[in-house]
Amino acid sequence: MQVYLQGLQGQRPSLPVSPDVLEQRAVEQLSLEASGYLAGMDDTMRANLEAFQRWRIVPRMLRDVSQRQLSTSILKMQLPVPLLLAPIGVQSIIHPEAELAVARAAHSTNVPMILSTASSRTLEEVALALGDTQRWFQLYWSKNPDLNASFVRRAEQAGYGAIVVTLDTLLLSWREQDIQNAYLPFLLGEGLANYFSDPVFRQALLQPPEENPVTAVRYFTDIFLNPSLTWEQLGFLRQHTSLPIFLKGILHPDDACKAIDIGMDGIIVSNHGGRQVGGAIAALDALPAIAQAVNKQLPLLFDSGIRRGSDILKALALGAQAVLLGRPYIWGLALEGEQGVQTVLQNILADLDLTLALSGYSSISQLDSSTLVNAQPVH
Ligand code: FNR
Repeated sequence: MQVYLQGLQGQRPSLPVSPDVLEQRAVEQLSLEASGYLAGMDDTMRANLEAFQRWRIVPRMLRDVSQRQLSTSILKMQLPVPLLLAPIGVQSIIHPEAELAVARAAHSTNVPMILSTASSRTLEEVALALGDTQRWFQLYWSKNPDLNASFVRRAEQAGYGAIVVTLDTLLLSWREQDIQNAYLPFLLGEGLANYFSDPVFRQALLQPPEENPVTAVRYFTDIFLNPSLTWEQLGFLRQHTSLPIFLKGILHPDDACKAIDIGMDGIIVSNHGGRQVGGAIAALDALPAIAQAVNKQLPLLFDSGIRRGSDILKALALGAQAVLLGRPYIWGLALEGEQGVQTVLQNILADLDLTLALSGYSSISQLDSSTLVNAQPVH
């Protein structure tokens, strides 16, 4: 209502409300290289968005929706809304305040943040900006086990409440735009704050990274790419942390079952926003079978393609307990920094709240597959 009432004073929102227009405006303002980095494989990204269109909400009437409940709990963590900020690396190429602006917006909206290993600011700096806001740390599992253990230790000390291990990026994918723009070297210089500040990483070098950044970046590339990683090695992390461990990038029900078998605490169904495998299954299409296989044995989260409140509602109805928001908050960051991220978050949460009510639900816990129909086009 507040948003509508602002119109009384002739005030129009400064940030586009439509995610499509928001994206267009952000991309116009970014350099070719930065917008290329934000992009992904066109066909997988399109598949992610189209999958949401096939599921349609069937609203129910007259069920007293005056009070609404958006909170949820994951393991022992209370989330005020079923939304977290997805880990997105190298944010200094989008805005000079980078992850600090995002952390302040997460704090003012009380939306938990998942910080990328490849952040432009250290995990300790971001924790300070977040204050008491919940945070999780995303880990890219490098070839150096001591470095992995060190990241986890630092995350624990800085108050991060869970570790998210991203499984789908053991190699960097065929990113046409980044290759065309010869962008990787620049990216590497901007996204290594956690590495350059780490005692184990520094110890592995002959000189401090500040004195010889080229050697430091070379060492990083040596250990970052890790295609020999297997399920067995994940047990190592268990021995080094008591924090819950989530696996991000699961798309097959059998892999979800493996995660349960080896004692992981949660799963994030994701295709990395369509950035890793061209031609991959849309993340939403993978969700129902995984939800069925997991059968509530552990928390299931989802990302890739969330743009509107109705998208969140659909993912929850198909079995996710919460979702991660990716690019939309980055578009807000690009256009208006901290304020832009805050507005994007407020908008999508207001949209979710209204969509939930108008669909006839007073709590997200009431959503299930009967909330939706699959309106698959007949060919
Ligand atoms: C990402 N993502 C990502 N994931 C991760 O685990 N660690 C990371 O450092 C990054 N970095 C990153 C950079 C950029 C530019 C994008 C767009 C994405 C993936 C991210 O966490 C999430 O899975 C997707 O962004 C979700 O898809 P949507 O919402 O962007 O469509």
